[in-house]
Amino acid sequence: MTTATARAFPNIALVKYWGKQDEDLILPVAGSLSLTLDAFPTTTTVALDAGARSDAFALNGAEASSDATRRVTRFLDRVRELAGSEARAVVTSTNEAPTGAGLASSASGFAALATAAAAAYGLDLDRRDLSRLARRGSGSASRSLVDGLAVWHAGDDAHSYAEGVSGPDMRMVIVTVDTAQKAVSSRAAMRRSALTSPFFPAWISSTEESLAAMLEACAADDFTRVGRITETHALRMHAVIQSCDPPIRYLAPTSVAVFDAVAALRDQGLEAYATADAGPNVAVIVRPDQAEDLRDALQGFGSVRLVGAGAGAQLVAPDSAAPMG
Ligand code: DP6
Repeated sequence: MTTATARAFPNIALVKYWGKQDEDLILPVAGSLSLTLDAFPTTTTVALDAGARSDAFALNGAEASSDATRRVTRFLDRVRELAGSEARAVVTSTNEAPTGAGLASSASGFAALATAAAAAYGLDLDRRDLSRLARRGSGSASRSLVDGLAVWHAGDDAHSYAEGVSGPDMRMVIVTVDTAQKAVSSRAAMRRSALTSPFFPAWISSTEESLAAMLEACAADDFTRVGRITETHALRMHAVIQSCDPPIRYLAPTSVAVFDAVAALRDQGLEAYATADAGPNVAVIVRPDQAEDLRDALQGFGSVRLVGAGAGAQLVAPDSAAPMG
């Protein structure tokens, strides 16, 4: 196959990945755990072009920026190295989520790109190796290869991949408070956190503890415990980010208002817990039977979307939206 198309969904971490122990291999300082969503997909086609001298990358119908194209080429260089190929590629990608607004478009983007590129270059990789490959594009992309709840292991290159875990059934309400591109990329902010936050060593050890507790809570099917860990851990990440020099603050006043509203709803018996990635948008987990009430309660804060657990990245048949095999 010299052309392949794949679709992947973003994931939202309940235990966050924030910091690398190896920037080149994208190995995290600690493991993380996320929910792959069933909304906001990225669909990507990779077509080999033997005559071309460079890769081409179009995103949402327009030529991508030179930075984005360089990142795609760097990723394809890794695929070419594995495949023993020198062919350049035309990459066409469409993103349903607003790019760069903290809705994990790099996760769905590199998960789709890894899956399509591996097929187009004729690599026969299992899901674990596809997760390791996607990780080289963007760390969080390793988790979008997996259906539903996924744990991404820290460790060396061979052992740092994501795999599925079972846990409580849940839904998520995504509150998009702002779709503007963020001022500081998560990659740069992560590096600044490691270099300048005095709390960073404690962040690493507390993330390891949060992940161990989260895995126990998932195994026990304990939604309350999953939720408490999720919210506490998210606010700890934002505390680290705010403690950088110069400081970075991703949460907007409306984001904080959503956290407060969720706490107030809990007091009234609607059990929900909030988290936010490197941006102002807030994702709130809830039990399935209270999901619609939560969505209705959060309407006033921005555009809200009720989502569930979705599938890991998959190849799709050409000119069709249906997953293959
Ligand atoms: C806050 O995976 O985008 O969403 O590996 O540098 O590409 P790079 O970073 P990326 O970071 C995601 C950070 C986060 C938390 C998470 O998804 O776990």
